[in-house]
Amino acid sequence: ALVADRPRPLHGRRVLVTAGPTREAIDPVRFIGNRSSGRMGFALAEAFGARGADVILVTGPVARPAPAVAELVQVETALEMDAAVMARVADADIFVAAAAVADYRPAEVAADKIKKQMDELVIRLVKNPDILARVAARRPRPFVVGFAAETSQLEQHAVAKLHGKGLDMIAANQVGAEEGGFDAADNALLVLWAGGQHSFPLMPKPQLADRLVDLIVERYLASTP
Ligand code: CTP
Ligand code: CA
Repeated sequence: ALVADRPRPLHGRRVLVTAGPTREAIDPVRFIGNRSSGRMGFALAEAFGARGADVILVTGPVARPAPAVAELVQVETALEMDAAVMARVADADIFVAAAAVADYRPAEVAADKIKKQMDELVIRLVKNPDILARVAARRPRPFVVGFAAETSQLEQHAVAKLHGKGLDMIAANQVGAEEGGFDAADNALLVLWAGGQHSFPLMPKPQLADRLVDLIVERYLASTP
């Protein structure tokens, strides 16, 4: 069916989505990054928009063009992403954290390009804020959906993140495997919430995002009075 023909159950609702990787500077020319392509977050933003939502997309640096959204916020670091999210979350009805946020950043950013003088170089890292956990800890808060990227024990790790961060839903994907995930066109997901779970088989990310958004909308509407 055409996007325009779809029912618009999120008309008048605001959905905040994070996408892409973050970059954590080491010096003026180098950074620590990851393989996130932004595909899943962008596809989710588009799927929420197709259901009538006002979408705010906060994204790290990605090569692909961003979808048309109500507000596009381009950031680089985890701290910038955190600030951009916190400045906008109070108005959000749904928050979806699809970004691959760097867990750590260099403790110091060298003012000048680091020269290759020493045989070994040690870069000390400090923890970044967990944006998803910080949003979930707010009261009041939006309906909160997280992702979990795991290389093993998918369900156990996802359940731990669902409860540990106090999320409404978590979408877990196996990464570093042949089945897709990071930097891949296809993905499969195991989605968990307090009352149940659903598995989506391997499929192209736009299609997967569409089906995941239907599930999020169903659970979100069931959770609101
Ligand atoms: N996330 C976040 N801010 C961070 C780290 C992660 O918002 N600083 C979000 C991601 O967007 C994702 C979820 O938390 O929705 C889980 O990310 P993941 O890397 O799988 O889990 P972590 O909690 O970071 O734990 P670990 O990397 O140790 O598995
Ligand atoms: Ca992490």
